[in-house]
Amino acid sequence: MSEHPHRLEQRKVRFDFEGTPLHWVPNEPEASHIMNTLHLILPAGEFWFCRVYNKALPLVRDVRLREDVQGFVKQEAQHARAHDSALTPYLVRHGIDPTPFTDKLHWLFDQLLCDHPLGDNAVSRSLQPWWLRQRVGLIAAVEHFTCVLGDWIISTRSLDHADPVMLDLLRWHGAEEVEHRCVAHDLHVHIGGSMLMRWLYMLIAAPLLIFLFSSAMKTMMRQDPVTRYRPGFLRLWYHLGKRDLMPRMGDVGRAVARYFLPSYHPRGEGDIQVALAYLANSPAARRAAAEKAPISA
Ligand SMILES: [Fe+2]
Ligand SMILES: [Fe+2]
Repeated sequence: MSEHPHRLEQRKVRFDFEGTPLHWVPNEPEASHIMNTLHLILPAGEFWFCRVYNKALPLVRDVRLREDVQGFVKQEAQHARAHDSALTPYLVRHGIDPTPFTDKLHWLFDQLLCDHPLGDNAVSRSLQPWWLRQRVGLIAAVEHFTCVLGDWIISTRSLDHADPVMLDLLRWHGAEEVEHRCVAHDLHVHIGGSMLMRWLYMLIAAPLLIFLFSSAMKTMMRQDPVTRYRPGFLRLWYHLGKRDLMPRMGDVGRAVARYFLPSYHPRGEGDIQVALAYLANSPAARRAAAEKAPISA
């Protein structure tokens, strides 16, 4: 099962965006907005992960994997809360209304990908084990991307001059994505997911994520006079990737290709030592650890 030598821990981080500018990567409004899409997508998406995994937990017979799934759920819930905490004190304060996008996103997770998208009837109930496996497979494919993106954000030096609060949020999150990179894949395999399902869900996850990033980006850019008329998401990604302000398209393409290898396992992705080193030094994670530590007399 998972290879990391420690239990996954929920770090109860908090962020104060009071001084964070809208264009938190200086002079890079497009890069700022593209990374800000995470605040729109992840609260709904990661709480959905938690609901699906809580449903899958009774199926896990392996003690270690069970602990990993529980740790994963706690970490993802904290990720969702942290990104959600950026909506009002940061985006709304800067005049960006996220609801044209987030209202539609709630339909995706609460209506289409919920436990009973066909209604709570006999057909729906009989399909539950199958439907749970499909959603776990989809999450495993998405988690491959979160590990790859997380590894980039903790490794790149091109953002070192950006707003330290926002950067710490993204790097803390990215580091935990690398830390729990094996859990989603191991759970998928444990409950009967096949290689064919893995391929199928990557073919769904990749265009779905591009669509979500593109739509969320447009929602924000339209409301910012500086970025009102800009090229599409893929063109921007290509150009920002060349300047290391996003992961390079070619690198992400190669990561997608690795997911199709029969030998694929997420333990080969990302750099766990870099991730753990960041978590040991993240300002927000250190504050959370200090608040958690018992006060000595
Ligand atoms: Fe996450
Ligand atoms: Fe994750």
